[in-house]
Amino acid sequence: MNIPQTIRERRTIRKFNTTPVAPELVVSLLNDAVNLYEDKGTCRWRCLYAGTPESRHRLVESMMTKMKENRFVKLMPSKMIDFFIKRVTEIPAHLIFIAESASDRRQSDENYAAVCSVMQNFQLLGWECGLGALWDTDPMFQNESFLTEIGLQEGERFAGILHIGYYDKAPRARRRTPAEQKWTAIGEGGKADVLQSARVRVSTQSILEVLNDAVWAPNDGLREPWRFIYVSGSEAAGKLLDSYGNTSSSFLLIVAEHEEDPHKQEEDYAAICCLIQNVQLLVKSRPWYARRSIPEWIYDLDQCKVFGIQPEERIVAVLELGENDRSLQSESSPPPLLNITHL
Ligand SMILES: Cc1cc2nc3c(=O)[nH]c(=O)nc-3n(C[C@H](O)[C@H](O)[C@H](O)COP(=O)(O)O)c2cc1C
Repeated sequence: MNIPQTIRERRTIRKFNTTPVAPELVVSLLNDAVNLYEDKGTCRWRCLYAGTPESRHRLVESMMTKMKENRFVKLMPSKMIDFFIKRVTEIPAHLIFIAESASDRRQSDENYAAVCSVMQNFQLLGWECGLGALWDTDPMFQNESFLTEIGLQEGERFAGILHIGYYDKAPRARRRTPAEQKWTAIGEGGKADVLQSARVRVSTQSILEVLNDAVWAPNDGLREPWRFIYVSGSEAAGKLLDSYGNTSSSFLLIVAEHEEDPHKQEEDYAAICCLIQNVQLLVKSRPWYARRSIPEWIYDLDQCKVFGIQPEERIVAVLELGENDRSLQSESSPPPLLNITHL
C-alpha cells in the first residue's frame, strides 16, 4: 500500500452501488486491519457483521424505531421514510464496532483507541480494493431497540457502524488545516528549524510532513478536533523522559480540543485515534519511530497543565519520537483472535 497516498485519497462514501461485497473479503480485511495495529493482544473489542438481506433489514428496523418517534419524522410522508429504509437496506454490508468495558478509564480508552484504529485500518485497506465506507455515529443509534439488537453490555462503548460497499464516484476532498497551524513547541522544537541536536533526533520538519498526511483522517463534521504539542529538550521534556528512560526521545502530545457536546467529544476522540493510527502507519517508512502510549498522568489535570493543556482539553495519547534503534523495538506479539459475530 502507498500509505501517504491512500491516507490522503480515502474518502467517506455515502452512496454505494449494488455490487455485493464478499463476506470473505470483509473478514480478510478485518484480519489485516487488526494486524496493522501495533498493540496486539492487549486491547479488547468486538464486532458484529450484518451482510445478509435479513440481518441488514433487522438492523435498519432497529435503527428506525427511535427515528419514527421523532416529531419531525412523524410529519414526513411515509414514502420518504420508505425511501430512507430502502437506501440503507441496499447497502451491501455493515460492521458494528464495540469496545469492551474495562475496570479503569485508561484501559477503557485503550480498548476504544484500539477499535477506532482498526476501523481506520479497515477503511484504508478497503479503499485499496475499491471498497468504500461510511463511519456512522448518528445519535439515532442511542436507542434501546438498536442497543438491544447489538447486545451492548453495561460499560461497553459503541464506536460506530462502518457501512460498506462499492461506489461509482468518490466525492471531492475537502481541505485540511496544515499541521503547522495546530502546532505548539515546548523546548528546543520552538527554534525556527530543528534538524539535529543532542536530544532532538527527529526533525520537526519530518514530523510535520507526517502530520500533514495524517490529518487526512476521517473526522465528523470536519471539526479537525486535534492540536499538537511538541516537547523536547526542556524541563518539561525531562519530566517525560524520566518516565520513559530514553534520553534521545522527544514527544508529541496529541490533544483533543474543547468540545461541549458529549456525543461529539466521543466522535472527536475517535477521529484523533484515526489520526494517530495514520501516524503509526506513516512512520513505518521513516528512519524514526513514534511509540504511542496512554500514560496514567494524562488523566491528572495538574500534570497536564505543565504542558499548557487547558482544563476543557484532554491529551488523547503521547507519542514518543526517536530514531530507529533495534534494541528499543518491542517484540512482536501474536495477533489476537478476531471477535466477529453475525447479526
Ligand atoms: C468518529 C466518526 C464519526 C463519523 N460520523 C459520521 C456520521 O454520523 N455521518 C456522516 O455522514 N459521516 C460521519 N463521519 C465521516 C465524516 O463526516 C468524514 O470523515 C468527514 O466529512 C471528512 O470526509 P472524508 O472522510 O471523505 O475525508 C464520521 C467520521 C468519524 C471519524
